[in-house]
Amino acid sequence: MDTMTIDVTATAERLLRSTADTLLDGDIDIDWDAPVDPDKAWLTERRGTLYGTRLWERLSREEQLTLGRAEAVAVLSYGIVAEQQLCMNLLRTMYAVPDWTAPEMLYSMSEVGEEARHSTMFGRLINKAEMPAWSAAGPVNMLLRLMGFVPHGPLIYAITLIVEEILDRVQREACADENVQPHVRQMMRIHILEEARHITYARTELARAVARCGSLSLAVNRVLVAVIVVAVMPTLIDPRAYQSVGISPTWGWIVAQFSRRYRENATFACGPMLTYFHDVGLIRGRLTTRLYKLSRTLPPELRAQI
Ligand SMILES: [Fe+2]
Ligand SMILES: [Fe+2]
Repeated sequence: MDTMTIDVTATAERLLRSTADTLLDGDIDIDWDAPVDPDKAWLTERRGTLYGTRLWERLSREEQLTLGRAEAVAVLSYGIVAEQQLCMNLLRTMYAVPDWTAPEMLYSMSEVGEEARHSTMFGRLINKAEMPAWSAAGPVNMLLRLMGFVPHGPLIYAITLIVEEILDRVQREACADENVQPHVRQMMRIHILEEARHITYARTELARAVARCGSLSLAVNRVLVAVIVVAVMPTLIDPRAYQSVGISPTWGWIVAQFSRRYRENATFACGPMLTYFHDVGLIRGRLTTRLYKLSRTLPPELRAQI
């Protein structure tokens, strides 16, 4: 990748100007007093994990909407945890820059501010859905605490993109879907606008981190990123969501994994991100490419290429 495209300072300066120009606030710019429409979905229906399966077809219309709402709450709960992890990582930037007033530092702080507002907005939306947020299970919480020790290298920026780009794909589609709740669509509009900056920044940081990485370290990073890609789609929706319509979490999860639509949904969510990972040199080597093939997330063109 051309070093001209990985000037992180210039990117941070440009994004800081954009932040000042387009400030939106989920507290103010969403009509929280408007009632929920009981006939509208909470996410694009065909992206639901059970959509199109016999289990889905056996549900009444009301149950299908309830499950969709529970899956939206699961994504939002995941979003809160993930965003706070990203904030912890951004806050650590201060120990990596020589000057605390450098554009990278200022931009990182403005991104922390945005993520904090996003998590507040997600929390309000979960309350509007009248379902409890699901916090991560005990062992996962332990792992999340350890994330603070992951060094600032390709892995940390790839994780950032895995969170932000997957949500971005799902949101762009749902935002344009008139069958989705107005509150959800407006929340997504705000989130997409701000996340576009975050994605640009994390992509620039990832390219720089890869360029700086030694070959052995890069090989380790490549495998670790692939392992996370394998794990992310099957764990994106907390299986406790299935209990909202009387389906056991284990059975719901198994049916979702074997759904004929799984690969289509996974490639839709991960496609552009994986194309970028490939462009910067993260999808290479036998073990890494095998893991990606196993993940069922590769878009067909990329699968044919590796
Ligand atoms: Fe966010
Ligand atoms: Fe973000």
